[in-house]
Amino acid sequence: MLRRCLDLLAPALERPGAVVVDCTLGLGGHSEAMLTRFPEARLIGLDRDKEALRLSGERLAPFGDRATLVHAVYDELPEVLDRLGIPRAHGVQGVLFDLGVSSMQLDEADRGFAYAQDAPLDMRMDQTTGISAAEVLNTYPPGELVRILRAYGEEKQAKRIVSAIVREREKEPFTTSARLVQLIRDALPQAAKRTGGNPAKRTFQALRIEVNGELGVLERAIPAAVKALAVGGRIGVLSYHSLEDRLVKQVFAAGAATTAPPGLPIVPEEYQPRLKLLTRGAELPTDEEIAENRRAAPARFRGAERIREDVK
Ligand SMILES: C[S@@+](CC[C@H](N)C(=O)[O-])C[C@H]1O[C@@H](n2cnc3c(N)ncnc32)[C@H](O)[C@@H]1O
Repeated sequence: MLRRCLDLLAPALERPGAVVVDCTLGLGGHSEAMLTRFPEARLIGLDRDKEALRLSGERLAPFGDRATLVHAVYDELPEVLDRLGIPRAHGVQGVLFDLGVSSMQLDEADRGFAYAQDAPLDMRMDQTTGISAAEVLNTYPPGELVRILRAYGEEKQAKRIVSAIVREREKEPFTTSARLVQLIRDALPQAAKRTGGNPAKRTFQALRIEVNGELGVLERAIPAAVKALAVGGRIGVLSYHSLEDRLVKQVFAAGAATTAPPGLPIVPEEYQPRLKLLTRGAELPTDEEIAENRRAAPARFRGAERIREDVK
């Protein structure tokens, strides 16, 4: 889907002085591709994970001062642009979000994101701050855990799993992932285990979203990114689960709708849409893309173009 991101952003970035923000730098794959394809563009890359910044910094070093990498949570985008001296009135020409965890975070066992290997239950993308997944499991009231598993994991068996967690944590607090994975396997009825891959997947997703406050951050970040776009600027978002995609869809749809009261013969400027949608619904990966990279399977891609200034 990298090609589609690049094609969608191209009309905005093929111009001298264009600035593009990669809000989820990760290992710098998308950033490297943008810097290569758009030789006149300057890139600002954000990541809350210091290890990701170190690795992408090495990868993007050949581009010199065309790439500026910043340790930040992506809802801090407006402040980052201020700090870098990019005037709000000027705006940026492109913004890209490739949400979720990176393959590096998944593959490094000690980060605790993967349910397939035993590791400390951490799951913080920024290991310098915040609380770990183990602390969430060991300290949250049962009702709160049920809410998180339902809302962020779409886990139908949340109550069953949380009862087992509470019983077990009283005996001994959770520290590593294997015990949690086994507990979920034991707690679920046979029928629930037959569908949807590893039965721990939904619980792990829910814990990760809670630990990193992912949806709250995204809810602030997408409107902030739209606001940061200059007229003609474009935004692309790759989501990996329906909660993220729904949020992106809502912000884009609101931006693309007129806010005029019904029945006005002429829609005044302040009610006109700010965005034009560039994708019809969410675009999905092709079978070939999934065959090449199984982790791309749940991806949903949406894009939009800024077509009008905010009315002052
Ligand atoms: C799927 S990876 C991006 C991979 C990247 N496009 C590449 O080509 O290597 C997502 C990255 O976004 C970062 N991230 C997730 N949520 C973030 C947030 N709220 N603020 C900043 N970075 C975030 C993660 O740490 C991770 O490195």
